[in-house]
Amino acid sequence: MSALKSTKRVTSPALRDRKGNQPIVALTAYSAPMAQRLDEAVDLILVGDSLGMVLYGMKSTLGVGLDLMIAHGRAVASAASRALVVVDLPFGSYQASPQDAYKAAARVMAETGCGAVKLEGGRVMAETVAFLAARGIPVLGHVGLIPQSVNSLGGYGTRGRAAAEAKAIIADAEAVAEAGAFAVVLEGLTEPLAREITERLPIPTIGIGASPACDGQVLVTDDLLGIFSDFTPRFVRRYADLGPQISQAVASYAEDVRARRFPGPEHCVPGPEAVKAAPGAARLKVAASKKG
Ligand code: KIV
Repeated sequence: MSALKSTKRVTSPALRDRKGNQPIVALTAYSAPMAQRLDEAVDLILVGDSLGMVLYGMKSTLGVGLDLMIAHGRAVASAASRALVVVDLPFGSYQASPQDAYKAAARVMAETGCGAVKLEGGRVMAETVAFLAARGIPVLGHVGLIPQSVNSLGGYGTRGRAAAEAKAIIADAEAVAEAGAFAVVLEGLTEPLAREITERLPIPTIGIGASPACDGQVLVTDDLLGIFSDFTPRFVRRYADLGPQISQAVASYAEDVRARRFPGPEHCVPGPEAVKAAPGAARLKVAASKKG
């Protein structure tokens, strides 16, 4: 049996120990059916707060709340039996203090059954990462382009092109690793910067838009499948183009309903009405009532 077929749950310590070995494969899922589809193939399923934009049409991830993350986290965790499920802590649920972060993370862990949480930020979040890790909550860090800070970053562009910013991002990644994160997401970085961070850190780096130099890769599944097609970031490779297929299927369904081609006889459950409608049904009914 291949390692991928094993039903043993992937754990955060096991992923941390993969540093420098087999690349870590991660994708997002927001629902039970998608989690079921991914579970065999990936090491880590991320219930990302990107769901705010991908599922709910929000303009950023800032409007996503804790209850929403818990609802989607629970659905995903219930359907994934092998991959490590990581749930994003949403904006406003953890930044104010380590104690706030603990309360939010403990709810997420207890109410979803996930195996770890992810939070955004480097040096400024190091104390919080240490606080959670020391209390039994595995933390996946996230530095570089951190979407919850889009308003202070000024957009979703690549980070760390300037030397000073690159230095700051290295310090962020090192702080999160030192604080006890089991791995760190590097988002939107140049290849040399991602490579340098990956070489420096004792924990795996998981890149999104951060080059193949990372120890693993994560993508938003809807991007990879061509479902979320408002825009395709440069770093996404589309492995399918399901958007047009979905539109085509829906159009065919609509045509069939309008032309009364759907449902067909094979979709119908025969019942007493069918007996009534059949030739001779009335006579049978009379005969039956006379007998009774
Ligand atoms: O929210 C998310 O999906 C993420 C990934 C893009 C890393 O944080």
